Amino acid sequence: MESEPVVHITSLVKRYGDKTAVDGLDLTAAPGITAVLGPNGAGKTTTIETCEGYRRPDSGTVRVLGLDPVKQSAKLRPRIGVMLQSGGVYSGARADEMLHHVAKLHAHPLDVDALIERLGLDSCGRTTYRRLSGGQQQRLALAMAVVGRPELVFLDEPTAGLDPQARHATWDLVRDLRRDGVSVILTTHYMDEAEQLADDVAIVDAGQVIAQGSPEQLCRGGAENTLRFSGRPGLDVGSLLKALPTDSAAAELTPGSYRVSGQVDPQLLATVTSWCAQHGVMPEKISVERHTLEDVFLELTGKELRG
Ligand SMILES: Nc1ncnc2c1ncn2[C@@H]1O[C@H](COP(=O)(O)OP(=O)(O)OP(=O)(O)O)[C@@H](O)[C@H]1O
Ligand SMILES: [Mg+2]
Repeated sequence: MESEPVVHITSLVKRYGDKTAVDGLDLTAAPGITAVLGPNGAGKTTTIETCEGYRRPDSGTVRVLGLDPVKQSAKLRPRIGVMLQSGGVYSGARADEMLHHVAKLHAHPLDVDALIERLGLDSCGRTTYRRLSGGQQQRLALAMAVVGRPELVFLDEPTAGLDPQARHATWDLVRDLRRDGVSVILTTHYMDEAEQLADDVAIVDAGQVIAQGSPEQLCRGGAENTLRFSGRPGLDVGSLLKALPTDSAAAELTPGSYRVSGQVDPQLLATVTSWCAQHGVMPEKISVERHTLEDVFLELTGKELRG
């Protein structure tokens, strides 16, 4: 069954003065966890804030849970949870008060005390927001985004600057949200975070989505992969190459150490091992180097720094 997208954006344009932050962006997010990746200044926060109804598109359409986030904000707000990149929390209140307050605004909130414990905020309850450490403020902002048990949660760099324990606690929380049927749209600069969590990844560059797919799909497409094996020195690489698909390459890098590159799939692995069998070679230390999301990201968005 095709499910309705939780976010559907077509041709979104958003300018700040003469700066075009979002430049005709199309993005459809299905239920589940969608990670939005992109260099600094690519337009991720602007896009997310437009979905949250905080920014009005200059042109294009944005639908979140089927609703217009600006014109139908009263209907949409209770159904979404929001964690802003810049905090955006009033600062004088105590952490536990803030959380209990937000929970009371919703019909079926999560258990506040359990959430406080999960996110390691127990010791922070009586502290005012302003006196929490950066990471503690962030965890509280995350707790506030999810405590109302929304249908869809927007998390803008939820784990930036968190210690490893808090990152893992955040990941567990996001996974639990998915298990409970909550959809999550998150931005991150941590490629491992996207690989760990996301069902779907959208890569944004210069205000447009330039690639989208599951982490596996993105890593499989495009770039070549590498298979390495070691065996006796001086094998006939030319003969091996003849057995391989035409777009492959094979080389003996150092005596007895071989590299095959091309579309490395199960068929290619089978071809290499059967060639070895035919030539009485026992390949040792066979390894396949898969492209990581970081490789793909850098390939698509370039390596130069962005402002
Ligand atoms: N309020 C604003 N006024 C003027 N320009 C803005 C404003 N907010 C963002 N911009 C500009 O719009 C562009 C996109 O910014 P945005 O915050 O959406 O990027 P981002 O992808 O979230 O980046 P980061 O990874 O650094 O968070 C940037 O060039 C930024 O300088
Ligand atoms: Mg941002």
